[in-house]
Amino acid sequence: MQRIAVLPGDGIGTEVTAAARTVLDAVTRRHGIELAYDDFDWSCRRYLEHGAMMPDGGLEQLRPYDAILLGAVGWPGVPDHVSLWGLLIPIRRTFRQYVNLRPIRVFEGVGSPLRDAGAVDFVVVRENVEGEYSEIGGRFNRGFPDEMAVQESVFTRAGVSRIADYALTLARGRRSYLTWATKSNGIVHTMPFWDEVLAERAAAFPDVRTDREHIDALAAKLVLQPGRFDVIVASNLFGDILSDLAAAVAGSIGIAPSANLDPTRTFPSMFEPVHGSAPDIAGQGLANPVGAIWSAALMLEHLGHPAAAADVLRAVERSLADPAGRTRDLGGEADTAAAVRAVVGHLSGS
Ligand code: NAD
Ligand code: IPM
Ligand code: MN
Repeated sequence: MQRIAVLPGDGIGTEVTAAARTVLDAVTRRHGIELAYDDFDWSCRRYLEHGAMMPDGGLEQLRPYDAILLGAVGWPGVPDHVSLWGLLIPIRRTFRQYVNLRPIRVFEGVGSPLRDAGAVDFVVVRENVEGEYSEIGGRFNRGFPDEMAVQESVFTRAGVSRIADYALTLARGRRSYLTWATKSNGIVHTMPFWDEVLAERAAAFPDVRTDREHIDALAAKLVLQPGRFDVIVASNLFGDILSDLAAAVAGSIGIAPSANLDPTRTFPSMFEPVHGSAPDIAGQGLANPVGAIWSAALMLEHLGHPAAAADVLRAVERSLADPAGRTRDLGGEADTAAAVRAVVGHLSGS
């Protein structure tokens, strides 16, 4: 029996997590897999009632689980830095989930907003615990003419090497092509360091073709030729931006999944859609559940259930190919519940 900690969070986080649970229940029943779930109400709602996103010792409570399934956190009235530093970021960092894996595909029937996008199937490997998202910095002289904000980016050789190795190994199992997204013209001091470490690691993978791209030029290429990419590795902030861009190229942020992985399996990994709590559509049953459902498939894969994971992904493909399975963000008319029914209806059990 594997144990899952479920953190639905706020807004549509709760709606898409319930959707993912419905699909998980259906697929695990068909495949004879036993998962046990514990729900945690850690959220902005909790913050407003108790003054903290999670209780003292919250991370210790999560530690024994085999995986964490998260919706999204954030709600108007609670500053984002409170909700994010109070829950999401400590989980990623404390549990050393240094890989944020974000696959992107253009599904049949969904289509890209781009003309002639063609076949698109790539993965953004985002460094998830260092870099631009560091705790070093602050706001100074608030309200005075000398006001300033400082943020240090911290990149370590160990941190860049392990994400490079992960991305190179992943590429080797796919189309053996890795793009690394940096900004190599020396303006940003940290990026030539990334280039050096990536080049060193790539030398150990002579069978993987690599291209180095400036992040700004890469953003344009993702729009112009999304089909040419296989694996893209990027720092924390660059990977964050690329993954929303890539999700839009694939039709909607609503379908994009992510896996926050501790590849050493010392700590639980966390699975969540790329999107946020979307207060603008929360409570209306309009959220696209596919990002959360695909994240649940990544969780099944991680837990050692590849057949069930593949079954979910095939069911997602089939449901999206059918207009009845597409939510409004994809130009369809399905509400969340109808989209979930479509996915469950396409599970094959094999
Ligand atoms: P968002 O992803 O919540 O929303 C951006 C836009 O995409 C909105 O118009 C929204 O309606 C739409 N959208 C998002 N998911 C959708 C879905 N599943 N189906 C249909 N449409 C969808 O991003 P935001 O507006 O920048 O952030 C809102 C809140 O979420 C903020 O508090 C932010 O900090 C938080 N956030 C949390 C996480 C997380 O917990 N992992 C991630 C991103 C943003
Ligand atoms: C994501 C989100 C988070 C991030 C925010 C909410 C801190 O945008 O998971 O992509 O930047 O990592
Ligand atoms: Mn993001």
